Amino acid sequence: MADFDLVIRNGTVVTAADVSRCDIAIKGGKIAALAERLAGGREIDAGGLLVLPGGIDAHCHFDQPMGDGSEMADDFRSGSISAACGGTTTIIPFAAQAKGQSLRAAVEDYHRRADGKAVIDYAFHLIISDPNAQVLGQELPALLRDGYTSFKVYMTYDDLKLDDRQMLDVLDFARREGAMTMIHAENTDCIAWLTEKLEAGGHTAAKFHAVSRPQPVEREATHRAITLAELIDVPVLIVHVSGREAIEQIRWAQGRGLKILAETCPQYLFLSEDHLEAPGFEAAKCICSPPPRGKDNQKYVWEGLVGGVFQVFSSDHAPFRFEGAKGKRNAGTDAPFRAVPNGVPGVETRLPLLFSEGVMAGRIDITRFVALTASNPAKIYGLYPRKGTIAVGADADLVLWDPERRVTLTNALLHHNVDYTPYEGMELTGWPKITLSRGEVVCQDGQVTATPGRGKFLPCELPKPATTRLGTRRYV
Ligand code: URP
Ligand code: ZN
Ligand code: ZN
Repeated sequence: MADFDLVIRNGTVVTAADVSRCDIAIKGGKIAALAERLAGGREIDAGGLLVLPGGIDAHCHFDQPMGDGSEMADDFRSGSISAACGGTTTIIPFAAQAKGQSLRAAVEDYHRRADGKAVIDYAFHLIISDPNAQVLGQELPALLRDGYTSFKVYMTYDDLKLDDRQMLDVLDFARREGAMTMIHAENTDCIAWLTEKLEAGGHTAAKFHAVSRPQPVEREATHRAITLAELIDVPVLIVHVSGREAIEQIRWAQGRGLKILAETCPQYLFLSEDHLEAPGFEAAKCICSPPPRGKDNQKYVWEGLVGGVFQVFSSDHAPFRFEGAKGKRNAGTDAPFRAVPNGVPGVETRLPLLFSEGVMAGRIDITRFVALTASNPAKIYGLYPRKGTIAVGADADLVLWDPERRVTLTNALLHHNVDYTPYEGMELTGWPKITLSRGEVVCQDGQVTATPGRGKFLPCELPKPATTRLGTRRYV
């Protein structure tokens, strides 16, 4: 009899390509065999459960220093526990460079924040806010070699934004080195102008956040980002796409054969302007950028997920508490919308929401669910096939998923350190039962069983050019 550490028996095993009935044997944290009737070692009976690759949340923010004095509610401990309890086994948060700061120093700072805290494995994207000659010429090439192979750039936010020339410099670098650029696409001057006009008219309530960033603001910046990428001839990924108009730009670009990838998030499927109409300061709970759009917009985001415009479904978990001094009320109760920290929590609810309303509601099939939430981000960001699939030799990062369990979502169920969920009261079908990271059960039935600090840093790979047909990187 073979000598395994663990065998997961009787489950329905799902990858981005297939659904099959087989057992999974694990040894040394890796998948050692996939076959019927495996034995030899401790067993978990997965009868009636789906066995999926653990989710990869490729866009989440933990313990990120904020320029306005606000504080994120989740550090790497609470954030990674929350992720694991929601079926996610890899997180890719951001190491953000402050303008004038060395990028290497920013990375070292984030390692200190994550060290000893994470319960699941993590990689880092970089945020480049200051692409000067030293950063592009010296620091970034060395960081790429050390496994930081993707970076986000912002077209808005005063402390982060790049102008078009700087964007071109970054994209030119990405093309030379084969790195992936993620773009936050909103037109900063339009937002500033609209915000001033709204404030002059006394329209400072939370709901006016969305009025200050309407769809054309996102559409224009998305088109510009596509244009810049086309000029340089480099793939880019547009993050947190919210609305029909930006989706149309991306579909148009993809139709022309440009390598434009795109990500959307739960807030654009399940929140809408109606949430920003909530009375008083309540609406601040749903302030994020880009903002949720009209309810009729949600169907276009679903279409983008079904039809392939989107390759990645991430949470954009940006955790700020509603009560207390340093969260949404950082600038005071009833602060004007411009002073409210942007972002919604969602690292734990990402998979259950998409499973329930996507798979169980018949909008997407289970293999597409796996592609959007695990396999594609692993491929795009250089973690595949170690992460994001179920295959011999891959890390045994798995989630045993109960497709029948009915759950009424409440914040009390969740493990983040935020005092609300924007999805309170939603009725969902399907919930993670057991999450395994490198073969170790890290969460079972909502109970965390992992020791903080067991999570490891994952250097991401740059693609090997020889393996591509279409360009200098492998893409989904
Ligand atoms: O409102 C959001 N999305 N906050 C997080 C930061 C970002 O731009 O992703
Ligand atoms: Zn962003
Ligand atoms: Zn974000």
